[in-house]
Amino acid sequence: MPVLNLNGTTLPFSAGDRLIDVINHTAVKVPQVCYHPQLGPIQTCDTCMVEVDGNLVRACATSAAEGMKVNTESSRAASAQREAFDRILGNHLLYCTVCDNNNGNCTVHNTTKLLAVEHQQIPYTTKPYERDFTNPFYRYDPDQCILCGRCVQACQNFQVNETLSINWEDPHPRVLWDGGAPIGESSCVSCGHCVTVCPCNALMETTMLGDAGYFTSIAAPVLDRMIELVKGIEPEIGDGPILQLSEFEAEMRESRIKKTKTVCTYCGVGCSYDIWTHDRRILKVEPCDGPANGISTCVKGKFGWEYVNSKDRLTTPLVREGDKFHEATWDEALSLVARRFSEIKSANGPDALAFISSSKCTNEESYLMQKLARAVIGTNNMDNCSRYCQAPATIGLFRTVGYGGDSGSISDIEQSDLVLIIGSNTAESHPVLATRVKQSHKLRGQKLIVSDLRKNEMAARADLFIHPRPGTDLIWLSAVTRYILENGLAKKDFLLKWVNGLDEYIRSLVPFTLEMASERCGIPIERLKQIAHMIVAAESVCVLWAMGVTQHTMGSDTSTAISNLLLVTGNYMRPGTGAYPLRGHNNVQGASDHGAMPNYFPGYQLVSDPEIRAKFEAAWKVTLPPKPGLNNHQMIDAIHQGNLKAMYVFGEEMSMVDSNANYVGDALTKLDFFVMQEIFFSETCRFADVIFPAASALEKEGTFTSTERRIQRLYQALEPLGDSRPDWKIIQDVANRLGAQWNYTHPSEIYKEIASLTPLMAGVTYERLEGYKSLQWPVAADGSDQPLLYTKQFAFPDGKAKLFPLVWTEPTDQPDAQFDLHLNNGRLLEHFHEGNMTYRTEGIREKTPCTFVEVSPELATTRGLRTGSWVQLTSRYGKVHVQAVVTDRVKGDELYMPMNSVEEPVNRLTSSHTDKVTSTPAYKEASVRMEIMAESGPDPLPRTNSRHGHPTPQNGVEVERKWKRPDYHTPGNGLVQIQTRS
Ligand code: SF4
Ligand code: SF4
Ligand code: SF4
Ligand code: FES
Repeated sequence: MPVLNLNGTTLPFSAGDRLIDVINHTAVKVPQVCYHPQLGPIQTCDTCMVEVDGNLVRACATSAAEGMKVNTESSRAASAQREAFDRILGNHLLYCTVCDNNNGNCTVHNTTKLLAVEHQQIPYTTKPYERDFTNPFYRYDPDQCILCGRCVQACQNFQVNETLSINWEDPHPRVLWDGGAPIGESSCVSCGHCVTVCPCNALMETTMLGDAGYFTSIAAPVLDRMIELVKGIEPEIGDGPILQLSEFEAEMRESRIKKTKTVCTYCGVGCSYDIWTHDRRILKVEPCDGPANGISTCVKGKFGWEYVNSKDRLTTPLVREGDKFHEATWDEALSLVARRFSEIKSANGPDALAFISSSKCTNEESYLMQKLARAVIGTNNMDNCSRYCQAPATIGLFRTVGYGGDSGSISDIEQSDLVLIIGSNTAESHPVLATRVKQSHKLRGQKLIVSDLRKNEMAARADLFIHPRPGTDLIWLSAVTRYILENGLAKKDFLLKWVNGLDEYIRSLVPFTLEMASERCGIPIERLKQIAHMIVAAESVCVLWAMGVTQHTMGSDTSTAISNLLLVTGNYMRPGTGAYPLRGHNNVQGASDHGAMPNYFPGYQLVSDPEIRAKFEAAWKVTLPPKPGLNNHQMIDAIHQGNLKAMYVFGEEMSMVDSNANYVGDALTKLDFFVMQEIFFSETCRFADVIFPAASALEKEGTFTSTERRIQRLYQALEPLGDSRPDWKIIQDVANRLGAQWNYTHPSEIYKEIASLTPLMAGVTYERLEGYKSLQWPVAADGSDQPLLYTKQFAFPDGKAKLFPLVWTEPTDQPDAQFDLHLNNGRLLEHFHEGNMTYRTEGIREKTPCTFVEVSPELATTRGLRTGSWVQLTSRYGKVHVQAVVTDRVKGDELYMPMNSVEEPVNRLTSSHTDKVTSTPAYKEASVRMEIMAESGPDPLPRTNSRHGHPTPQNGVEVERKWKRPDYHTPGNGLVQIQTRS
C-alpha cells in the first residue's frame, strides 16, 4: 500500500484516493466548505488549502501520491484557510441561534468554530436580490448564499436536471434557475438534491422554516431586530460566545426533533433517508447514507409526505350500512369479518375467498397475508400487484437465468459501458436510478440506447433513440440477436461454457430477419445493425425495462427476448452487466418474494411441491392446499362467474389500477363480502363491506425490498393516527378471530419465521439490517448476500443459463376504422400511479393538478385541437374526458395518457386482454377514438410545472469562471490577519 506523510506521521492510502478523504480518515481537521464526498471536488471555497511538498494546494482536488509530504498546520496553510473562510463569511450573516439550520450540522457554523474565528475581516454585505419563495417545497435566500456551488454541482452533475448555474461574471454572483427565472417557473423538478447538499441556510425546505428551533418561529420584524442586536455586540464580544449560545440551542433541538431512518414508500428504487419530525409535523427528509441513493431523492421521496397527516386519513374501522358506512369499534369490525369469512368458507369452501396483498406494505405484512390465506382459510387465492406489471419480467428471467430479480445493483447500471432502456420512462418512473444513468452518460462516456414510443427524457438524451411500432419490441430484439449470431459477433466462449439450448434457439430465430424486423417495427435496417454493433462493441451492457415491455400480451416473451440477447452477447456474470426489470412499487419485489402469489410460498417455493408443502405444514401446524390459486386477474373473472364470494384486499387501489376498470368495478359489486384495509377511503373502498384503517409506513416497522433485491428496514417515526393500526397487527387480529393463535409482538419475530422457512432469505435478520445496513438476496445463513447475481453460476441445477425460443404474435386491441388511435399510458414524475398519496401534497397538486392526454403536433393539426382542448377518448371498454397537451413527445396517431387520476382513470379505456403466461393486463395495447369537445381551457400543466422550463446544461459549477474574476486571487498569496480565540 502506498504511503504519504501527514504532519509528520506516515499514513497509508489506496491508489486513486483524494487527499482530503485520506486526511478525513484521521483525527486531523481541515476545513472543507464546498467539498461533499458524493459530489466530488468543486473547488469554489478554497478553505481546504494545505501545503503539499511546500506548495499550497486544495486538498479536495489533489490526489494522494506516494511519498507526498502534507502539512495542514503550517502558517501558510492556516492563513490561506482562514482567508478563504473569511471571504465566505462576507457572504453570510451568522445569526445561528435564530436560524432554522442551527441543527448541529451546519457547515458554515462548524467551520467558524473549527477555525476559531472571532471577528470577520471581510464585512458581510447583502446582495441586491430578494429571497425566492416561488417553489412550494424550498426557498432560496441569496443573502445567506456563500456561493459554494454545491447545489449547482448537484443539479448539473448528480441529478442532471441542469437547472442551476452561478453567474460568476456578475458583480454580485448568485445561484440562478434556468439562467435567471423564478424558481417556481423554472425547469426545477423539486428533487431536493440542491437543498440537501446546501451547507448552510441559503436553501431550506419550507417545512423547516420557523418550525425547527426554539426561536425560529419569532415574527420577522422581531427576528430582524434580534439579528441586528446580535451583530451589534459581535465586535465587542466576538463570535465565540454567540456560537456557544447557538450550540446550546442546537443541543436543545435534539430533544424536540426526532430523526428516524425510513425507506421511501413510492417507487422501487429503494431510497432511504432520515425523516425529521417535530411532534407529528414532518420537518424534512434528509438523505445521506442510503445504499441505493446516497444524497439523492426525487420530489415524491423528498417532499411528498403530506398524505401521512392528511385530514382524509381513515382513523376508525368502518362497517357498511346500506349505502353508507358507520364508524365501528375494532371489536365489531373484526367480529363481523371473522363471522362472514367463516360463513362463506363453510358454505362455499375456502376457494370462495381471495386475498390481495399490498406492494406498498412491508415484507412481513405480505408474509402474514399469505399465511392467513393458506394456513387459516386454506386457499392459495393470493396475489399482489406485481401481476399488473412485473410478473412477465420475472418469467423472462426464470426461463433464462433462474432468479426473478435484477441481476445486479444500481451501481452495475452506473458503471456499465452501454445502457439499453426499453419501454421505461426511467427519468419519471425511477427518477433516482435514472440520475445514475444520466450522470454516467453525461460525464463518463456511457452509451445510451432507448427504445420507446415516446421521446421521454432518457430518449432525448440517448445516443440512439428508436421508436418501434407498438408491441413489436420482441421482433427487433430477436432480429438484432440473430444478426449478432449470424455475423460471428456472439460471445462464443460464454455460450459454450454457460448456456444451454443454443441450437434450438437459433432455429427459432429463422423468421426474425432484419428485413422482417424493419418492416414490422418501422426501424431502418441500418439502425438495427447499428444497435447490434453498439452492443457487441461495449465491454458491458445493462438492459433496463419496465411496463412498456411487460404490459403487453407478449410481455413475458419480450422480457425473455431481452435476456436471450444478454446471454448471446455474454452480458451476465460480470460487474456492469445484466437484466434490470425496474420494479414499480416500493415493495412489489418483496411482496412476491414473501409469498403473496397464487403458486409460491415465500422465496418462490412451489405450493404444488409436496416436500415444500410438508415443511410449511410442519411449521404452521396445518394442512395446506396443494393446488395453485387464482391470480388477481382470474379472481375478477371468478367473481363474475359466481365462484368467488369474498375478498380481503389491503393497500391496493384495485378498482382503478386493474385494467378494464368498469369490468373490475362490476365484479366488486357482486361480492358477497369485501374487506378493505387502507389509509384513505379509496375508490375501491366504495365497494367494501368493512374497511380497516391502516397505519402509514411512517407509523410502523418492517422491511421493504427494492428493485435491486435490496432488503432495508424502516423504523417507526410517528404513532399510528387515530385508531389506525399497522397492517401486520390487523392481519394478525383477523387470523386470531378465525382461530389462529399468532402472537407476533414485533415484525422482527415475523422475519425470524420467514428466514427459517425460506432458503432465499435464510440469513436475513433485523440485526443485519440495522440502521442503513441492507442485504441483497439471496442471503445465506451466514449473512452473506449477492449484490451481483450469477458470479459463480446461473440459478439452474446444472449452473447453466438457457436460451428460450420465442415466436411473435400480433398485439391485441389494435386500431381500426372505429378506434383509430393507439393509446399508451404510464406515470408522471410527480405522481405515484393514480395519485392517492401524491395528490395529498399541496405543492405536487399545485404543479401537476390533473391527468391529460398527449397529442402529437401533426395529429393536433389534422384534428384542429390545441393544448387545453377538452376531448373525449372512447375505447371498446369505456370513455374518459381529459384535456389535451400537444407535444412532440408523442408521434403520429399515438396518444399518451398519464395514469394519475381517480376521476378519469385511463383504465376505463384498457381491455381485459393479458400476457399469455402471467395474466398481466395488456395495458399498453389499447385503441381509442378521440372526439373534440366544444369547450377548451388553459394548459392542464400550469406555468409552474417544470416541463415549461428551459434548463441550462453545463459541466458542474464552472469554477474556472470564478477564478477568472478580476477580484479573485488564490488565498494564501496575500497575508491576512484574522483574530482567533486563544
Ligand atoms: S432540479 Fe431543482 S430541486 Fe433538483 S437539484 Fe435542480 S434546482 Fe434543486
Ligand atoms: S445555495 Fe448553493 S451556492 Fe449557495 S450556499 Fe447553498 S449550496 Fe452553496
Ligand atoms: S419515489 Fe423512488 S426515486 Fe423517488 S425518492 Fe422514492 S424511491 Fe427514490
Ligand atoms: S473544500 Fe476544497 S475548495 Fe472547497
